[in-house]
Amino acid sequence: MASASVMKPSVSLVGAGTQGRRLAYMWSTQGHDVHLIDSVPRQLENSIAYIEGLRQADSKPLVAPGRILTHGIDGLGAVLQDSWLVVECVPERLALKRQVISEIEAAAPQDTIVASNSSSFTISEIIQGLRLQDDSRVLSAHSYWPPETNVIEIMGHSRTDARHIVTLLEQCRQHGFQPFHVKRDSVGYIYNRIWAAIKREALMVAAEGAASPQEVDDIFKSVLKTPKGPFEQMDVVGLDVVLDIEEHYAQARSGLPTVPREYLKGLISEGKLGEKNGRGFYDYSDQKGTGL
Ligand SMILES: NC(=O)c1ccc[n+]([C@@H]2O[C@H](COP(=O)([O-])OP(=O)(O)OC[C@H]3O[C@@H](n4cnc5c(N)ncnc54)[C@H](O)[C@@H]3O)[C@@H](O)[C@H]2O)c1
Repeated sequence: MASASVMKPSVSLVGAGTQGRRLAYMWSTQGHDVHLIDSVPRQLENSIAYIEGLRQADSKPLVAPGRILTHGIDGLGAVLQDSWLVVECVPERLALKRQVISEIEAAAPQDTIVASNSSSFTISEIIQGLRLQDDSRVLSAHSYWPPETNVIEIMGHSRTDARHIVTLLEQCRQHGFQPFHVKRDSVGYIYNRIWAAIKREALMVAAEGAASPQEVDDIFKSVLKTPKGPFEQMDVVGLDVVLDIEEHYAQARSGLPTVPREYLKGLISEGKLGEKNGRGFYDYSDQKGTGL
């Protein structure tokens, strides 16, 4: 059990992509070393440059940041020896998540907390049927977009030791996160569930023809004073990704309307994926994002 008095000094992150490198920056801000592990050497090199950029944007840090120590995936056991926490940040594929969590959990010392940063798979789904040494130290720690959006949601499963949740919440606060505890096993994190409901209803409004995506965005932004409306945000995420997320909710929960998914499928079949291919709810061919 990791307690404040005997805690190991470092954090390890497996996967040095979008999230892994941002988390490496966060967990090194208080002077502790971070181990960044990836199967692709280029990702590790790019991460170091990226973290350096984030550090340069820090006005005047009170503490000199810890080192970022990079590693390939061989010899995981040795790398994890001095870590109180290891977080997997590999791509969002359930089979890969299950494999990586198994490997990490087998390699990590007994008192190391093992976490997943998955956006859509609960830790219960990831570990279901896996043979683990000690599943009471396994949990989800889902970050958003640190350091800009520093919210992190911590969610255990039915056998997670509550003391690990307390330790992680406390350490997150000390490292510049704004942590929240999801107190029940939940398909979707707190914010994601609320956002899913907004997306679903916005899609219904447009599919019914009650208002255009642009009108919905205009109303939304005017009332809530947000920089983007739901359709603009869905274009950023990608319509195919939005559909996958909604399908996942629909599998987990009966009674969700099919209209939003059918509407999305129609747009995707017309080749509209969002900003990434220049056409979604808006046209990005001129980079301005004008309503279609
Ligand atoms: N991108 C986001 O905005 C965001 C936000 C919150 C949570 N997440 C979650 O974070 C996780 C990672 O997402 P991302 O956007 O950082 O992905 P990414 O594709 O940017 O990075 C994944 C990294 O994992 C590496 N990798 C793949 N297989 C590996 C293995 N077996 N061992 C070690 N490294 C391996 C890849 O080389 C890559 O560098 C996902 O579960 C995602 O749902 C992402």
